[in-house]
Amino acid sequence: MGYTFNYIIDNQKIQFLFEDTFSSILNYAPQSKIVIITDEQIDALHNNLFTGFHVIKIQSGEINKTQQTVDAIIDQLLAASIGKDVFIVGVGGGVVTDIAGYVASVYKRGTRLGLVPTSLLAMVDAALGGKNGVNVGQYKNMVGTIYQPEFILFDLNFLNSLPISKWENGFAEIIKHACIKDAAMFEKLSNHNLSDYQNNSMLLATLIEENVHLKMNVVVEDVFEKKDRKLLNFGHTLGHAIENVYNMSHGKAVSIGMVFAAKLSEKITGFDANSTHQIIQLLEKYQLPTTIEIDNDKIIKLLFADKKRIGNEMHFVLLNEIGSAEAKPILLTDLEKYINEIMLCG
Ligand SMILES: NC(=O)c1ccc[n+]([C@@H]2O[C@H](COP(=O)([O-])OP(=O)(O)OC[C@H]3O[C@@H](n4cnc5c(N)ncnc54)[C@H](O)[C@@H]3O)[C@@H](O)[C@H]2O)c1
Ligand SMILES: [Zn+2]
Repeated sequence: MGYTFNYIIDNQKIQFLFEDTFSSILNYAPQSKIVIITDEQIDALHNNLFTGFHVIKIQSGEINKTQQTVDAIIDQLLAASIGKDVFIVGVGGGVVTDIAGYVASVYKRGTRLGLVPTSLLAMVDAALGGKNGVNVGQYKNMVGTIYQPEFILFDLNFLNSLPISKWENGFAEIIKHACIKDAAMFEKLSNHNLSDYQNNSMLLATLIEENVHLKMNVVVEDVFEKKDRKLLNFGHTLGHAIENVYNMSHGKAVSIGMVFAAKLSEKITGFDANSTHQIIQLLEKYQLPTTIEIDNDKIIKLLFADKKRIGNEMHFVLLNEIGSAEAKPILLTDLEKYINEIMLCG
């Protein structure tokens, strides 16, 4: 059954309640002090868990990850005379955990926060590390804060209702972790497939826990993204641009971004072309796309507006080998040339 481990970031303890049940949130605050933020999809599927709680629902989907949604939640909190002593609990995928974290960090200058990630992607990535944010027009996560929750509760029963396409999204981030930090995990993923993980709860729990530790170790070392945390952006620079221009899901866009980054690594770090091939095979095994026909000019325009741009350079995460990555500055003019070369030849 459940067990707990902790990480400490900036003197704040974050408790990881692993393989626990939802009702454990009551160990943190009485029901009357808890406000649950969730989305309509989770509410429709799991509202039996929410009986007796004050629930604020947002519309599902990335399109609603906006300041407008945050403002609407704040209006509802104020209208219900919710005080600073509220315990906000975000229950949902990455959109909900990002929004709940942001709201908790700004409402009355900061409230208590707990997160219950319900999608695989949120469990292995979005709910971890304290970053939150909203999109501004086409630009992803342009506004937000860094704010740690007191607990992150992993109730793997939520995954029973997760649609298959969302499992694939989660595996994109898991494969990302393997590529940048863990060759053994890459090997293990290569020896299994999606349905192995869906049908074997022990195998899945171990994989999720390994990914939690991998990401948390990076974050603990580097809360403000000066060193290794940058590596978590592997596949995301081009990925975010594709996600926005083509309205593609985060995981699928990142999958294509990782293939591009691997091919770029061949040109810059001497990354082995066979390893690129192994990455493509692994992504395909987890039903993720590896190519797309894009309008290079549109994508390049968005890339130039990326948060990670510094002057005429962009820090790009490249692989040295599977399990080892580094961030390197690339001139935007070179990046444009590489995009034209790599994305044209597929
Ligand atoms: N803050 C971070 O560090 C960080 C890291 C990675 C990703 N993210 C963000 O996470 C988001 C993507 O996460 P996501 O894919 O979880 O998005 P999401 O929250 O949109 O969830 C995807 C869909 O799955 C549904 N869903 C979630 N759990 C479910 C369940 N158990 N059963 C049935 N349906 C379920 C949701 O209602 C939604 O429709 C993006 O906005 C991304 O920017 C943030
Ligand atoms: Zn991601």
